Amino acid sequence: MPVTVQKQEETGVPAHAPAARCPHLGAQYNPFAGPHVDNPYAFFERLRREEPVTFSPMLGMWLVSRLDDIHRVLREPGRFSSRDMLSSGTQLTDEAKAILAEGFPLDHILLGMDPPDHTRLRRLMNRGFTAQRIASTAPLIEKHARRLVARFAHAGKADLLEELAYPLPVLVILGIMGVPDEDMWNIKRWSADWQSLTFEHVPPEKQPEMARGVLALQRYCIDLVEQRRRQPREDLTSHLLEATADGDSMSLHELVMAIGASMLSAGHESTTALMANTWKLALEHGLWQRLREDRALVPKFIEEGARWDSVQHAMIRTTVEDVELGGVLLPKGSRLLLLYRSANRDESLCPHAHKLDLDREKVPQHLTYGRGTHFCLGAPLARLQVQIATNLLLDHLEDPRLVPGQDFGTWQSIVLRQMKHLRVEWTPSPAATP
Ligand code: HEM
Repeated sequence: MPVTVQKQEETGVPAHAPAARCPHLGAQYNPFAGPHVDNPYAFFERLRREEPVTFSPMLGMWLVSRLDDIHRVLREPGRFSSRDMLSSGTQLTDEAKAILAEGFPLDHILLGMDPPDHTRLRRLMNRGFTAQRIASTAPLIEKHARRLVARFAHAGKADLLEELAYPLPVLVILGIMGVPDEDMWNIKRWSADWQSLTFEHVPPEKQPEMARGVLALQRYCIDLVEQRRRQPREDLTSHLLEATADGDSMSLHELVMAIGASMLSAGHESTTALMANTWKLALEHGLWQRLREDRALVPKFIEEGARWDSVQHAMIRTTVEDVELGGVLLPKGSRLLLLYRSANRDESLCPHAHKLDLDREKVPQHLTYGRGTHFCLGAPLARLQVQIATNLLLDHLEDPRLVPGQDFGTWQSIVLRQMKHLRVEWTPSPAATP
């Protein structure tokens, strides 16, 4: 699930001590520019060894880099809260507030809740999003993926991000929720407005239009819920509506947040990022032919790739009391940036964690989908989509290679890494079209 946080200098809050005047490693960290964007691993190794919990003046957050410290934070939601995750966003103008006041308040979303409220809502959402239902989405994923691959398979070149990794997860989540494909662009626009107002720093002049987008998505979700109340269907919207636990069910507000924010809005960007990164890794590491010939290896490769070069860079927590972590006393209200990407390379996670190794017996349980209370609700769906799309590409792309010298581009975010392009060429063959 993506959360974008801009650097403080862009938000009008002055950046603090420059690196040269501050001896701490935290002051050297820059997730927006320079060497830490593409390859922060040597720096993370130093952090884990020398300053596992250290302050970043640029972000106004404590960087937490070791696996065991992050595990502890995730195990203790009573001390390290998720609630503040959503308050990193925009200072709303009165006009934007007035528009939003016509709809449901934007808090009360699973990602930003703590137990016991989180436990209750998560239980209800789990009832709708069962393993069996996710498995039953395979034909839908296959159908969309085949149609998209058929558009470019014969061409011998494509931007796999724009033409497959980007549209596929959106079409899949719309299909699962029972939303018609033709509403895709409206939903994308409104959910981008919602994400921006919640997680980014939006300038005042842009806020009213975005607030209207949020309202439009909420109204769309309310209509959807009302339609399904009258006429239930075999879709996740109907299942969430029917989900009960101990006589409890979701209120209309909770349903709108679950459908609009946790599913329609959150259910695709990270999957796009993971797909594109998986294919890039396969090409960069010369693994295409091996995977083509041994399809049993595909799920393992996807998982090991997700660990080794995580698209989920980090997640945020806030201390609710003074607490010691990794030898550092953190005052109440400290914001922590949990570096999942660093923990995935921690040697205590698995032997030779620095190596992308398809021959390891088992890929360890890494942090790309989080862990514990907030473990990603959509992880099985994301894995299934990446597997189906990867297998289709392996079927139809003969001898593919990355277009040399290309700029992959990157979206600025401290929590999710997402490329903008993945241009690939291959040898077209008559049997290429699915
Ligand atoms: C590769 C794809 C994905 C990645 C890497 C990913 C990553 C994550 C991570 C790291 C968390 C935990 C956040 C934390 O520790 O605070 C999370 C939570 C969540 N994810 Fe995903 N996600 C992906 C796909 C999806 C999809 C497809 C959906 C929905 C269809 C989804 C819905 C959610 C929800 C609702 C939560 C909140 C769970 C809770 O708080 O209990 N995610 N995701």
